[in-house]
Amino acid sequence: MAENTIISFQNIYKQYDESMILKDISFDLEKGKFYTLLGPSGCGKSTILNLIAGFTQATSGSIVLDGKTVNTLPPNKRKVNTVFQDYALFPHMNVYDNVAYGLKIKKAAKDQIKEKVMDALRAVRLSGFEKREISEMSGGQRQRVAIARALVNEPEILLLDEPLSALDLKLRTEMQYELRDLQQRLGITFIFVTHDQEEALAMSDEIFVMKEGEIVQSGTPIDIYDEPLNNYVADFIGESNIVKGTMIRDYKVEFAGKVFDCVDGGMNENETVEVVIRPEDLVMTRPSLGNMKIIVQSQLFRGVHYEIIGEDPEGNEWMVHTTRKAEVGEEVGLAFEPRDIHIMRIGETEEAFNTRLSEYAVVNGTMVQETIDMEKGVDLNNDI
Ligand SMILES: Nc1ncnc2c1ncn2[C@@H]1O[C@H](COP(=O)(O)OP(=O)(O)OP(=O)(O)O)[C@@H](O)[C@H]1O
Ligand SMILES: [Mg+2]
Repeated sequence: MAENTIISFQNIYKQYDESMILKDISFDLEKGKFYTLLGPSGCGKSTILNLIAGFTQATSGSIVLDGKTVNTLPPNKRKVNTVFQDYALFPHMNVYDNVAYGLKIKKAAKDQIKEKVMDALRAVRLSGFEKREISEMSGGQRQRVAIARALVNEPEILLLDEPLSALDLKLRTEMQYELRDLQQRLGITFIFVTHDQEEALAMSDEIFVMKEGEIVQSGTPIDIYDEPLNNYVADFIGESNIVKGTMIRDYKVEFAGKVFDCVDGGMNENETVEVVIRPEDLVMTRPSLGNMKIIVQSQLFRGVHYEIIGEDPEGNEWMVHTTRKAEVGEEVGLAFEPRDIHIMRIGETEEAFNTRLSEYAVVNGTMVQETIDMEKGVDLNNDI
């Protein structure tokens, strides 16, 4: 465990009734970072927060906070506070009293309470709103009151359980900036729970992707987006084209009826693999210029781009994000570079995956692709 570890889960299992809700969860979280637990409903995200806060206890394993095992330590003895999805504010109290509530219960001195409440309101940019009733606050402002109410206790760790899901899209995006900014100003550890991948990508230092009580993959947003471990992660994080392929040998993969250069290796010869290419990495071009051809089947205008879906000669579907229009039934070329091809071994563990990646994708800090003729067969002329 590193010196700046603030919280450590060591082989945590949690059982409710007959079912194992969390299965062998281990991680070390560092002080002052923004972490996100990302996964679908019921995968165990809130249960992890509840274990950290002390609202429930692990069936087995250890939870270490600030160097001490805290498995049975009551919530009020932990320097942890939670912001709940529904904010759980007191509707009949004004903003000041809502934020001050916890300190009053603890019987803190009046002038000390005032100072701390004012500090917390300043941190969430609500100075001047002290006397407002909760019912007179907007959704985003209520959200900030809820955060101030947690911050007033000066937690080392702030747990945020889907705090933005009740807000409309525009406000949610604004609050993403604000939360990220707040975390950086305060320098405390945030653990944020969401099932929204965009939220996770936008805010986090590190994301834990969960599935059915397990952590499937962890890493920075870019790591996870660019190098998904498997089908599940690739699908969960962003739009993906996932097709079956064959790894001919290192750095050579066959799919859609053709052999392509790629930057992955370490598989068996002729191993069946899954190939991922992001829709925004596919460049639509003239059929003669692309390194693959598709027949356009549908086209949707998405505001910033068109979303085009087409079929290759092998029957695979490809989604393309492009600013160009195409007609249904038209044949277009798709161009992409070796580094846009991400290869996943079926059933590979995260550990084996990370080891293989470090051995094959990067050599002395230089991408292997530099040794491959990257532009071969690829003309990035977008003129269709
Ligand atoms: N107190 C409890 N008693 C029994 N089962 C529980 C309890 N709390 C949670 N569970 C079960 O544990 C599983 C995980 O629940 P959890 O609340 O951690 O999921 P989640 O990932 O937060 O989901 P959501 O996104 O819907 O909030 C669910 O199947 C849930 O029904
Ligand atoms: Mg939950």
